[in-house]
Amino acid sequence: MAKLFASVYDTLMGPLEKRWIARVRRKIVSGLEGEILEIGSGTGANFPYYSKGNVDRLVSIEPNPYMLDQARERAEENGLQVEFHKGMAESLPFRDGEFDTVIATLVLCSVKDPNQVFNEMKRVCKKGGRIVLFEHVRTESKSLAALQDFLTPAWKRLCDGCHLNRDTGRYMRESGIEMIKEKKYFKGIFVEYEGKV
Ligand SMILES: C[S@@+](CC[C@H](N)C(=O)[O-])C[C@H]1O[C@@H](n2cnc3c(N)ncnc32)[C@H](O)[C@@H]1O
Repeated sequence: MAKLFASVYDTLMGPLEKRWIARVRRKIVSGLEGEILEIGSGTGANFPYYSKGNVDRLVSIEPNPYMLDQARERAEENGLQVEFHKGMAESLPFRDGEFDTVIATLVLCSVKDPNQVFNEMKRVCKKGGRIVLFEHVRTESKSLAALQDFLTPAWKRLCDGCHLNRDTGRYMRESGIEMIKEKKYFKGIFVEYEGKV
């Protein structure tokens, strides 16, 4: 499943990327500075949007080796220096306070243990540093949320563990990260979060 998911991911996302997601990526990624950790970087879809002059160090951690191969190619195509690690967000192989910013896009829906992932993000981020996320989440609309609940068991099997109905904002608040931005799109199905550690 990991290989199949990696091979179709960019193609499946293509129409949404063109229509809208690429613009959101540019908006949130182009302003990032300093030492940055990107979690679950997948095929490197965010890489074209980093402002090279502002980035002192860019580190990527991703468990899927097939995604990592594509991300390496994308970094090279974009002339971007990236330090790649194969691993899981639940157990980050980095020191406390190593990064200015930790970013993840469309990842928290798929991790096995969101509480542990937020704890790890907080740990590796400097005091006063930022956690930046763009995620699809459980919507506040009761009828849509019921549909998300219904679809999630099959969706998880098709999309490498992805939950349509995960309340990522709640996990983020419960972790003690201070929420400083929460911008909702499409009835709150997609949300941009920014938190301060
Ligand atoms: C839907 S893809 C998103 C990829 C990329 N971030 C993007 O915006 O296109 C989800 C990614 O999260 C990764 N992932 C899943 N579980 C993870 C975990 N526990 N730790 C880190 N990454 C994980 C997957 O391998 C996959 O690359």
